[in-house]
Amino acid sequence: METKELADILQRERKLSPDGYKRLVTARDAQLLDHINALARETAQANYGNAVFVRGLVEVSNYCRNNCYYCGIRRGNCNVERYRLSKEEILESCRLGDKLGFRTFVLQGGEDAAMNEDVVAGIVEAIRAEFPDSAITLSLGEYSRGAYQKFFDAGANRYLLRHETANREHYGKLHPASMSFDHRMESLRALKDIGYQTGTGIMVGSPRQTADNIVEDILFMEGFQPEMIGIGPYLPQHDTPFAGEQAGSLEDTLMLISIFRLMFPKALIPSTTSLATVAPEGRERGILAGANVVMPNLSPPENRAKYALYDNKKAFGAEAAEGLRGLEEQMERIGYRVSYSRGDFGNEKWKMEN
Ligand code: 5AD
Repeated sequence: METKELADILQRERKLSPDGYKRLVTARDAQLLDHINALARETAQANYGNAVFVRGLVEVSNYCRNNCYYCGIRRGNCNVERYRLSKEEILESCRLGDKLGFRTFVLQGGEDAAMNEDVVAGIVEAIRAEFPDSAITLSLGEYSRGAYQKFFDAGANRYLLRHETANREHYGKLHPASMSFDHRMESLRALKDIGYQTGTGIMVGSPRQTADNIVEDILFMEGFQPEMIGIGPYLPQHDTPFAGEQAGSLEDTLMLISIFRLMFPKALIPSTTSLATVAPEGRERGILAGANVVMPNLSPPENRAKYALYDNKKAFGAEAAEGLRGLEEQMERIGYRVSYSRGDFGNEKWKMEN
């Protein structure tokens, strides 16, 4: 069977055999990529029209207790100037975002011991009180189930926690032994059980990743049924153990975005900052491969450079809240329109609002 046919089957049946997935991710064929991108666009449009949802991203702290080999804000990187936003600064960022029209705030940060569960719950509560109709998404790494429950009770709706890799051995090559594959997986389970719209995902082309690993990621996602899927190319950061490793490719990332769109027609899939960083027009290409979310940076501009997970990370222009008009134009040029509605998974309310 031709790989194009596999893509057609995936669109129809939302599922392939492991070997089918492997053929798609290893094909590296420009025509196949065009074809599957077009199918994924069609599927996204059938569910969301030409809406691209925006989320305001607030990078709350770059302190991190972990030492992931790929990440620029790892504990061991002493060249990072550390910062932590106060509750008031976070609220100010949300107020700015609210004025700009954002109805989802994403709080993202390293695993910062000072951001203990009561601090985070207090921040969520304050945002919830001031913005009762907005969605609150957290992306703060691993906490206990009890802590996740507390955040949820305080008003958080969504949680992003990429699994990074579904293969235990590969996990061990990306992270020091102090980090636990099992705990990450347990955390994801807990988030789903509690009732969060849960996002997971991987870096495409992360060091030592094999095609079989990617197939395992796909199969993991099939079982997990995430509401959101965050994927972007791995990009090296010069102060990490993986500084000399190759970046992930644009095309591999676009292929995976399309595969996930066809598997999960209603998922919220961002066209990520790393995709916008790896290639000119990366953000647009992501949307044209089936992504339907962008997350402009809403952090105080003076802190953005310090949140450098990888080199050359984009944080200004169309990648930033103050560049929203530029982003709108960029989306309009490719036939899409920025939607300011919450765009909850499985909630079709946006259709009436838009
Ligand atoms: N390149 C690309 N993505 C990265 N992340 C961390 N470091 C890098 C890097 N060097 C991703 C991880 C994490 C998310 C917040 O950012 O997948 O889950």
